[in-house]
Amino acid sequence: MRVPLIAGNWKMNTTVTDAVNLVKEMRDDLEKIPDVDKVICPPFVSLAPLKELVAGSTIKLGAQNLYFAEKGAYTGEISPLMLADLCEYVIIGHSERRQYFGESGDIVNKKVVSALKAGLIPILCIGEKLAENEAGKTEEVVTRQLNAALENIDDSDGLILAYEPVWAIGTGRAATGKQANETIAIIRNCISRIYDRRVSREIRILYGGSVTAANTAEFMNQPDIDGALVGGASLKAAEFISIVAQASTTK
Ligand code: PGA
Repeated sequence: MRVPLIAGNWKMNTTVTDAVNLVKEMRDDLEKIPDVDKVICPPFVSLAPLKELVAGSTIKLGAQNLYFAEKGAYTGEISPLMLADLCEYVIIGHSERRQYFGESGDIVNKKVVSALKAGLIPILCIGEKLAENEAGKTEEVVTRQLNAALENIDDSDGLILAYEPVWAIGTGRAATGKQANETIAIIRNCISRIYDRRVSREIRILYGGSVTAANTAEFMNQPDIDGALVGGASLKAAEFISIVAQASTTK
């Protein structure tokens, strides 16, 4: 059985003070919800203070990005070793990184390799753009992104995938549960080809893109969807708690 997972991607929102207040607001309610993995991904600068706040709870932390080198002259970058001290998860290959920061499949691959080596759990994001979707290229795009990101990675243990169609991110236009499940089933098949049937059965695949408390159940009710990567709605305490609670009861 795959344990459902809800991850909140706060993106470039919240000061440290805001982040501490938001976690304080959610912590007790989140803590009461069983049978679902809860991950909060704040900006880097909030990881250390939040680590203290969630210590001993079931709430885990993730980073939104990392650089692939372990240390050295890379001004402004954050290494996997630094993160491993502060959090358990790391989002890699988010479409905003690919789009605004020029992250290629090769860079995403290096980041996944270095995260796994440091003992971090990557949440690897893939997904097609609107034009690709309309041209019927979804399968081709997600397959290419997966092949590139997972090249020469033999041990995929712990890896988590997030299918995030770019046209659904921050647009209020989520995919339907059925649409998302269809593509996630394709992704599972692709994982079976890259690894084997066992890995494809066990790997957790999330949906992301305009997930709200109102549509969470629709996604969670799909057989191949194991949770959600939530952007905007993860910044609202009551809504995020509701999303996590629904993930706990619908799986
Ligand atoms: P959204 O973002 O929920 O605001 O659409 C999702 C994401 O980018 O991970």
